[in-house]
Amino acid sequence: MIVVGRTEKNLLGKENASIIVDLLKKAYCDEMQIFHYFWYIGIIMEGIGLVTYAPSLKTQATGELTHAELLSNRISELSEKAPSDPAVWKTQGNIGPLDPAQYLTLRAALEKGLEFEGKAVKNYNNIAKKALEINDFVTYNLATTILANEVKDEQHTENVLKNLEVK
Ligand SMILES: [Fe+2]
Ligand SMILES: [Fe+2]
Repeated sequence: MIVVGRTEKNLLGKENASIIVDLLKKAYCDEMQIFHYFWYIGIIMEGIGLVTYAPSLKTQATGELTHAELLSNRISELSEKAPSDPAVWKTQGNIGPLDPAQYLTLRAALEKGLEFEGKAVKNYNNIAKKALEINDFVTYNLATTILANEVKDEQHTENVLKNLEVK
């Protein structure tokens, strides 16, 4: 068996590594749910002819999916696996149950989206802080990279909402 990142794990210590893995797993649950949320809304908006907004929602969705991938890679480096069961995403993340079908007007969808982006900003800020505290520089780097994306996402969603003609 190949032990991935053995030296790094020794440097971090078992306890610290497991604190970080837990935070990364939670974030993974969130990203998968948010990915699906934006993806679903994007498809619906396309279907009802709101073609101006659909591509941007889908782009946002794939952005979140990329975050999930980065998190999953980091979790593997720490010798664990990202939560594979979608049922777990609802119970072990920071977001809780989420059904995109409940937010099917553009305004409702974006307002809910804004809430996620705000949560994500707080969450990655927290992970970055924690990672720095225990000298986990790889996770720190990952968290600040994603954090920068989430700040952009939040700003973007806020701008679209502000300029929305549909009241
Ligand atoms: Fe994200
Ligand atoms: Fe985001």
